[in-house]
Amino acid sequence: LSVAVLISGTGSNLRALLDAAADPDYPARVVVVGADREAEGFAHAEEYGIPTFMVPYAQFESREEWGAELGAQLAVWQPDLVVLSGLMRLLPAALVDEWSPRIINTHPAYLPEFPGAHGVRDALAAGVDQTGASVILVDTGVDSGPILAQERVPVLAGDDEHTLHERIKPVERRLLIDVVRRIATGDLDLAAQAASRAPAP
Ligand code: GRF
Repeated sequence: LSVAVLISGTGSNLRALLDAAADPDYPARVVVVGADREAEGFAHAEEYGIPTFMVPYAQFESREEWGAELGAQLAVWQPDLVVLSGLMRLLPAALVDEWSPRIINTHPAYLPEFPGAHGVRDALAAGVDQTGASVILVDTGVDSGPILAQERVPVLAGDDEHTLHERIKPVERRLLIDVVRRIATGDLDLAAQAASRAPAP
């Protein structure tokens, strides 16, 4: 299974996927890494000799034009699967529609709890004693697609956003590696997952 990973930040989830894919028995390969900015995580792709592309959001007049260029870059690689992992941008609906259901996202909360760009901060602010990590199908909403995998992570006294996020990320990485493996082996059928939530005809 060929995978394109889109990031914005440190790419620790990307790194985990690259490390897993280095095992010849793992049934997926990362073929390209893209970002909406100069992401630190590009370093992981370069270390593995994997091509990268950048579509700088700031250089585009609109989300739609940015998304169109992002789609054009992805089309070059024709990946079987697109993984959003720390991409801190909402994709335009046209791009989601074009790639659905072959586009998944990792999120550092137990969706549908705490969707959006600050899931970790929101869980802390809510004072909950547990949050979680989720891997979902991307739809045109904000972290609202069918849940492919999720697991609870405890919030500990004294946690701040960093310590909690660092406790969530290892769980996120493990879920992501397992979900990609299950997609690659056909054990997880993304079309069926997407259909399971399609609005009634
Ligand atoms: C991850 O927790 C991801 O789910 C969230 O932002 C974080 C990115 O971390 N959207 P990294 O760039 O993979 O280290």
